[in-house]
Amino acid sequence: MATPTRKVAVIVGSLRKNSYSSFLARAFTEVAPESLTFQNLEIGDLPFYNEDLETSTPPESWTRLREQIKASDALLFVTPEYNRSIPGVLANAIDVGSRPYGHNAWDKKPGAVISSSISSLGGFGANHHLRQSLVFVNVPTMQQPELYIPNTPERFDNDGNLIDASTRTMLKDAAQAFASWIDRACLR
Ligand code: FNR
Repeated sequence: MATPTRKVAVIVGSLRKNSYSSFLARAFTEVAPESLTFQNLEIGDLPFYNEDLETSTPPESWTRLREQIKASDALLFVTPEYNRSIPGVLANAIDVGSRPYGHNAWDKKPGAVISSSISSLGGFGANHHLRQSLVFVNVPTMQQPELYIPNTPERFDNDGNLIDASTRTMLKDAAQAFASWIDRACLR
């Protein structure tokens, strides 16, 4: 039987044009099995979550994000660490996707988390703060392999190409595990 194609929404927690998080997201898509297709979700234009805007005509970008999440089979979060937690822009996207009450777009979408840092801890704090929110919005998140990518500047060239073979192997193994994780979650 042919392997079903799974649409993965990619949510990058950095707005920087040349962000290492976006480089990592790209590298992941390059080594992922063909059964996974990827769409980057824009989160930089979402107004801050404010329940007063939750009318019959909420901000267009909120509706767009919610529809894109609902249309996906799975979620890949790639985030830097800001002050030992997740960037505000990512927290805002999670809030927007989780509302209005009773219409949580994230619900039951299998997910994976990659965190990174220019220094040595690989964004461990951000990774686990994100996982805490993913529990609440009911995203069954792949446990292993964990992906904390430290010292990012050493791993990419000036064009954002991954030049570190061990990171490539790690991402490839993780992408394969994620594809299996999605298959199992989607069968439920
Ligand atoms: C950082 N950075 C950072 N790094 C880290 O390992 N732990 C941290 O808590 C923080 N905190 C932090 C706060 C803020 C406001 C900024 C702007 C940066 C450094 C961070 O790892 C570095 O800037 C990364 O390059 C950010 O990821 P992108 O934008 O390259 O994806």
